[in-house]
Amino acid sequence: MFDVVVIGSGPAGYVAAIKASQLGLKTLCIEESVDNKGNANFGGTCLNVGCIPSKALLDSSHRYYEANKKLSEHGIEIGELKLDLSLMMKRKDDIVNKLTGGINGLFSSNKVESYSGRGKIIDANTVEVVKADGAVEKIETKNIIIATGSKPIEIPSAPFGKNIVDSTGALGFTKVPETLGVVGAGIIGLELGSVWSRLGSKVTVIEALDDFLPMADKDISKESFKEFKKQGLDIKLSSTVIKCSEHKEYVSVSYECQGEEINKKFEKLIVAVGRYPNSSGVIGEKVNISINKGFIEVNEFCQTSVPNIWAVGDVVRGPMLAHKGSEEGIMVAERIAEKQAQVNYDLVPSVIYSHPEIAWVGHNEDELKLKKIDYKVGKFPFAASGRALAVDQSVGFVKVLSDKKTDTILGVHVFGPAAAEIVQQALISMEFGASSEDISLTMFSHPTVSEAFHEAALAANNQAIHIGNKK
Ligand code: FAD
Ligand code: NAI
Repeated sequence: MFDVVVIGSGPAGYVAAIKASQLGLKTLCIEESVDNKGNANFGGTCLNVGCIPSKALLDSSHRYYEANKKLSEHGIEIGELKLDLSLMMKRKDDIVNKLTGGINGLFSSNKVESYSGRGKIIDANTVEVVKADGAVEKIETKNIIIATGSKPIEIPSAPFGKNIVDSTGALGFTKVPETLGVVGAGIIGLELGSVWSRLGSKVTVIEALDDFLPMADKDISKESFKEFKKQGLDIKLSSTVIKCSEHKEYVSVSYECQGEEINKKFEKLIVAVGRYPNSSGVIGEKVNISINKGFIEVNEFCQTSVPNIWAVGDVVRGPMLAHKGSEEGIMVAERIAEKQAQVNYDLVPSVIYSHPEIAWVGHNEDELKLKKIDYKVGKFPFAASGRALAVDQSVGFVKVLSDKKTDTILGVHVFGPAAAEIVQQALISMEFGASSEDISLTMFSHPTVSEAFHEAALAANNQAIHIGNKK
């Protein structure tokens, strides 16, 4: 009998399994994905086909773009530039293999047992595993954690095929497409659209909504939209795909843009219109757990209506982000071990790894207006940061929003260099209830791009040194 059986080994599942075992619970993790040798392939979407490979390609493509377009501004001439895409892909695959293989090591050093196969909950204490060869085994356990993740949404007007691909397909092109269509100007569309644009594709992004990045602060949406366009992403807002047809070498796409029908050919089309929770077939008929639009219903502690069955990560409500899933995994392991754990869902950071990066935490201005919270704004442009100018990354700004009466920081929004790291500094301070004055009174190394956070905090109280203050 196990204390905990975890179904799924993505960042929610494998972290939950390691934590549970560290807390002295006898733990098993079941994973259905297998590698080319038939062994369980741990790490889920994030390590295999998500966060890690996309960031590897974002970095490689950025270096290529810099070498191609930017180094000459620094007086560096490199002659003829060549792209070896297969080597770039190999580097990405090597990083993925290192990390996914590393989970095997983490499991064994933390005494987590693992099983290759598809898990299904039969009753509150039994998980059935169907192995790749069809053999079935039943496992008894005191607690179950569902961490089965999510998969790309497919739309009827653009079904996946040879040239119409999801994010996984877009991480493995063997040739740079001359023309690339992307359906969805969300996080994947912008990150992977940027990768292929930097490598030479002419990229058109087809987005259904009228607004660009509606979940971000309005100033960031506006400025980043201009910047993405400048970088070559032709973003068509208010546009819907009507139909697509696959041809041997290309895809024909008809889409409607503000009442007009447009027909285009793309060598490849990436469809990135969101992800759907992977809950189908995981919960047996005899187990009474509600599923809403694919999401397994849980309380704030990720507990389902069956008290010893828990669910974490993309398969439950909340943002589909690796760090959110991992924190939920840790919370659940601790609660099973009868500790008082919780996740602060008010402070989940968001990052888009474009260049410059976009990142935020807490509320944006629209949300504060909607909640009728009085706030003040401190904004500092990277154009006034010595370090940002020195490293040629002076686009964007830091914006600090704090409570008008108490000065408590309510949100920090960054478009610019190291945005993710700056927002992480903000998040740590917000966890400790910092005010913009607390940040103002903190010493920042010079010259760093983080100084823009310091100045934005000063600006919230009209005390900025390196820009003019409001009269
Ligand atoms: P998953 O990672 O999806 O893992 C679920 C696992 O469960 C899989 O391995 C699956 O095979 C297994 N499984 C499913 N059903 C069963 C079953 N019945 N039995 C056994 N095993 C099963 N997030 C970020 O925070 N930062 C990023 O930079 C980022 N970049 C991304 C880039 C891309 C291209 C994509 C697609 C996603 C990205 N994400 C990013 C999102 C991130 O990958 C997910 O939020 C995260 O992987 C979710 O973790 P999870 O453990 O809930 O699920
Ligand atoms: P998304 O939700 O970020 O964006 C999807 C976009 O597609 C939206 O703008 C939506 O309006 C648009 N859309 C939906 N249906 C459409 C249609 N029929 N035609 C045209 N546009 C349409 O989803 P995405 O980009 O697929 O990413 C999925 C999730 O993966 C993200 O929400 C995020 O949680 C995670 N992710 C996180 C990353 C990060 O943290 N840096 C990177 C990549 C993914």
